[in-house]
Amino acid sequence: MLADSFGRIATDLRVSLTDRCNLRCSYCMPPEGLDWLPKPELLTDDEVARLVGTGVERLGVREVRYTGGEPLLRRGLPEIVRRTAALRPRPQISLTTNGIGLDRLAAPLADAGLDRVNVSLDTLDRATFQRLAHRDRLDDVLRGLAAARAAGLTPVKVNAVLMRGVNDHEAVPLLRHCLEHGYRLRFIEQMPLDAQHGWTRADMITADEILDRLGAAFALAPENPDERGSAPAESFVVDGGPATVGVIGSVTRPFCGACDRVRLTADGQIRNCLFATEESNLRDAMRAGASDGELADRWRAAVRAKRAGHGIDDPSFLQPARPMSAIGG
Ligand code: GTP
Ligand code: 5AD
Ligand code: SF4
Repeated sequence: MLADSFGRIATDLRVSLTDRCNLRCSYCMPPEGLDWLPKPELLTDDEVARLVGTGVERLGVREVRYTGGEPLLRRGLPEIVRRTAALRPRPQISLTTNGIGLDRLAAPLADAGLDRVNVSLDTLDRATFQRLAHRDRLDDVLRGLAAARAAGLTPVKVNAVLMRGVNDHEAVPLLRHCLEHGYRLRFIEQMPLDAQHGWTRADMITADEILDRLGAAFALAPENPDERGSAPAESFVVDGGPATVGVIGSVTRPFCGACDRVRLTADGQIRNCLFATEESNLRDAMRAGASDGELADRWRAAVRAKRAGHGIDDPSFLQPARPMSAIGG
């Protein structure tokens, strides 16, 4: 079991498979990209499978989410998913992606055992997409979403980060689009995790603002909070249901007290929190010949040291050195 000193148990493992991405969303990466991790530093497919297996078979991991950067850029992804689905007890397997390439990969991934996907979509306007992500790929994302639904990777969730003066007028159209297509939309407060360190509280569209905007066009009723569990999203029934919309208020409505997550970076470091300042290097231990039992011990110690919360409001808060793309969303 992966327990921390506050009584939280990490059962949800988020594995970043690459720090590379084919978009440049401004809340994450500068237009020129970043210095990517050198290949020898990345975990191989076998190393990923071994660590995920250790998490599931020895440490009580019940859900595995593959992320990036952009995880669809990892060639071995279908095989990694297949090996994950063969573990016992079989974990839930999900993917967080920007959707580019999903039109081709949704069916093979579903066949390999992927259960569901979360796709980022911040705008429905081609010019705004280009401005926000520095690439003209909106149509690829929309095709990817449709393919995910057709392949049964459901519920298909859509993640949208609203930015002041960029796409914050699109809350209502985004929800209309997702209701029409049967996707579950979640709006996310922007967090200080961009490589450029450009985040400001004033630019962040807060959960309250998101709800005000949606409330002007839809009747929203909070779902029973008892059903939320460790989910980051607060859920609201839209216009009497059955559809719902989520709001992930990581900054103004933090959910760290119920956190059940632990992260493995593409270069094999355990991070006990998105905002952790320290990591535990399982890759080097593994390459130096550590046994599965020794890796599990290190992993337990890393989770035990988890802090109570992200501390964004503390005067001493320091943004982690790694940006979101290298941590895994
Ligand atoms: P499910 O609800 O299981 O589908 O997953 P999820 O919402 O956690 O996954 P996803 O990768 O789609 O993440 C959506 C957003 O939730 C991310 O952009 C983050 O903003 C936020 N988030 C995910 N994990 C964490 C976390 O551990 N801490 C905080 N503060 N935010 C997180
Ligand atoms: N703040 C909030 N969400 C972010 N994401 C990426 N960077 C940030 C940030 N700084 C989102 C992406 C993706 C999810 C994994 O994380 O939009 O949907
Ligand atoms: Fe968990 Fe850290 Fe995210 Fe809080 S900020 S929910 S503790 S990973």
